[in-house]
Amino acid sequence: TLTQAEKAAVVAIWGKIAAQVDALGTESLERLFSSFPQTKTYFPHFDLSQGSAQLHDHGSKVLGAIGEAVKNIDNITGALATLSELHAYILRVDPVNFKLLSHCILCSVAAHFPSDFTPEVHAAWDKFLSKITSVLTEKMF
Ligand code: HEM
Repeated sequence: TLTQAEKAAVVAIWGKIAAQVDALGTESLERLFSSFPQTKTYFPHFDLSQGSAQLHDHGSKVLGAIGEAVKNIDNITGALATLSELHAYILRVDPVNFKLLSHCILCSVAAHFPSDFTPEVHAAWDKFLSKITSVLTEKMF
C-alpha cells in the first residue's frame, strides 16, 4: 500500500496530467505499440497508426481510468472493479502487458513534466501503477 507521502506525490502531479489526458494517453499508447509491438495483437480492430482517432480516444479512456484511481486512491479496487472484470474475463489481457503499459505511461509523464518527475515522484507513481495493475489483473487467477 502507498504511504501518505506517496499518495500526496501521486495526487500532486496528477493535477498537471489531468489537463493533458488526451496527449499523454495517446503518447503512452504510441510508445507501447512501437516499443512492444506484440501488444498490438489485442487491438486488431483499431487503426493504430500514429495520431489516429482511435488512439486518441482510447488513450483518453485509459488515462481517465487512472484519474478515477487517483480520485479514489484509498479505494482503487472499488473504483476499478468493472474495468478489472473487463480485462480479466472478457479481454483476457496477459498481465505482462500491464507492466509494459505502466512503463510507457511513466515515460510519457517524465517526458512532459521533467522537473516534477523527481525520484520520489517516480517511485510513488511506479507503486501506484503497480497497484492499478494488480487490481486489473487479480481476477485472472
Ligand atoms: C479497454 C483502461 C491496460 C487492452 C479499456 C478501457 C479502459 C481501459 C478505461 C475502456 C473500457 C470501456 O470502454 O468501457 C486500462 C488501464 C490499464 C489498461 C487503466 C492499465 C493501466 C491494458 C493493457 C491492454 C489493454 C495492458 C493490452 C495490451 C484493452 C483492450 C480494450 C481495453 C483491448 C478494449 C478496446 C476497445 O475495443 O474499445 N482499458 N487498460 N488494456 N483495454 Fe485496457
